Amino acid sequence: MSLPAEENVRVYPDLESLSRAVAESVADIAASSVSAGGWFSLAVSGGETPRALFRILREYDKRLSWPRVEIFWVDERYVPHRDPRSNYGVAKDVWLASSPLPRENIHPMPTDLESPEAAAQQYEKLLRAHFLHAWPRFDLVLLGLGPDCHTASLFPSSQALSERSRWVVPVDAPVEPAQRLTLTLPVINHAAHVHFLAAGSEKAAALKRALSGEADALACPASGVSPTDGELVWWIDRAAAEGLR
Ligand code: 6PG
Repeated sequence: MSLPAEENVRVYPDLESLSRAVAESVADIAASSVSAGGWFSLAVSGGETPRALFRILREYDKRLSWPRVEIFWVDERYVPHRDPRSNYGVAKDVWLASSPLPRENIHPMPTDLESPEAAAQQYEKLLRAHFLHAWPRFDLVLLGLGPDCHTASLFPSSQALSERSRWVVPVDAPVEPAQRLTLTLPVINHAAHVHFLAAGSEKAAALKRALSGEADALACPASGVSPTDGELVWWIDRAAAEGLR
C-alpha cells in the first residue's frame, strides 16, 4: 500500500467535527458525480463510528439531488434488518427513514435468505445489474477501522482477503455476530473515492499500522485498501491520531 499523502490524513478535534467534515465531502463528491455521470453511488459501512455522520446527513436534504443517489452497503451482519446490530437497520433508523432518498435507491444486503452464501450471490447479482456487469466503481466507499485493523468485514487472516473474482462474499467473523457479508478488496479498491473514518484512542494502534506502509493485508486488512485509480482519505480524530506523532 502506498502511503496516503499528508493532506489525505485529516485530523479533527473529535468525532462530531470529523463527521461534519466528512458530510461536506460526501456532498461535494455527490455533486461532482451527479454532474459528471448522472448518479452518485455510495457504499457505507456499519458499526458505531458512522452514526454521527448519518445523523448529520439528515441536514443535507437540500444539498444533494437525492433521486440521483444510490446507497449500498460495504458489509452487513447476517441478522434481521430490525436487529439493533444490523448495519442497514442503524442507517435506516438514524438517517434513511427521514431522508428524501427514494426507497428504490436504497440497497441493503439481504439477510433473510437460506444462507449467507445465497445472500452474497444475490447482492453480487444486484451490483452487477447496477454497474452493468463491469467491475463496480463506487463513487464513494466509506470505511471504518477496527482495533484489530479490520475494515468492512475483512478480518485479519481471513480467506476473503485473497478473493480476487467475487465481489461479495460471506465470512465468519471472530466477533459476534459471526456470520457476515462483505464487499471484497478488489471492489473497494476500484472505487473513485475511499474514505476511512476512525475516532477514539482504541483505534490509534491500528491506524498507525495501517498508515505505516509496512503492514500486510493479511495481518492488517485496512492496509490492503489502496485504490487503483482513486482517492484515499483518512478522516481521524486527535485521539486516534495519537499513535502517529
Ligand atoms: C461493521 C463495520 C466494521 C466497522 C469497524 C469499526 O460491520 O462492524 O462495517 O468494519 O467499520 O468494526 O466499528 P466501530 O465504528 O463501531 O468502531
